[in-house]
Amino acid sequence: MIVKVEIQRRNSASEKTRTQTFSVETDAAATVALLLECINEEQAADDPISWECSCKQKKCGACAMLINGRPRLACDARVHDYPKGVIKLAPLGKFPVVRDLTVDRSAMFDALAKLGAWLTESAGADETGTAYDASRCLQCGCCLEVCPNFYAGGEFFGAAALAPASRLISEAGTGDAQRLREAYNAHFYRGCGKSLSCKNICPAGIDTERLLVNSNAAAVWKRKMRKARGKK
Ligand code: SF4
Ligand code: SF4
Ligand code: FES
Repeated sequence: MIVKVEIQRRNSASEKTRTQTFSVETDAAATVALLLECINEEQAADDPISWECSCKQKKCGACAMLINGRPRLACDARVHDYPKGVIKLAPLGKFPVVRDLTVDRSAMFDALAKLGAWLTESAGADETGTAYDASRCLQCGCCLEVCPNFYAGGEFFGAAALAPASRLISEAGTGDAQRLREAYNAHFYRGCGKSLSCKNICPAGIDTERLLVNSNAAAVWKRKMRKARGKK
């Protein structure tokens, strides 16, 4: 079968976007990542499409992009997901474009550092519940793309920060718990509008609604209950 692939391209963030269209002979099970590799090898070798990719197995999150308007991983999206035979590719819109489909997602990684998303003391590991679910986060940024409250460089870090925070909050011992709760409140809870646009978008299948409910219970409501009882 022949698939039409329309790609939004530009050489730098300041340049105007242009659309380049390629016709690719492929089969229905091929991934968008494979289409991009074929295009770069066979049709765009002189001016290859810039895009990020590492694992090609839905494990690294690097290949996140807009595919027919929806944030997805290129190595997860397949030709048969688009029965009309037209696949439109664009860079994620919440981060600065570096070139073509490559964006600079450093704001998302900086947010993790600002959040202090680590433990300083040993903690138990919950291998079945929220913590295990949250640990599957790829830091791909798909959830940020659909979040009405997130913008790169802001103080609200979105569900990409909720996932690691949620995992740590549920595992933290007393030493880390207070610090993590405060960071969660400052960088997630206060800014989250609970719109749940991030629900059902995660390519890792993380149930962000469940994380949100569990983390709010751990980081916000318990603290309030403790305060009401006169404890820290
Ligand atoms: S929660 Fe899901 S969509 Fe958001 S960054 Fe993590 S893996 Fe990506
Ligand atoms: S619930 Fe809404 S505001 Fe909160 S992280 Fe998800 S998309 Fe963003
Ligand atoms: S290349 Fe790693 S998730 Fe797609």
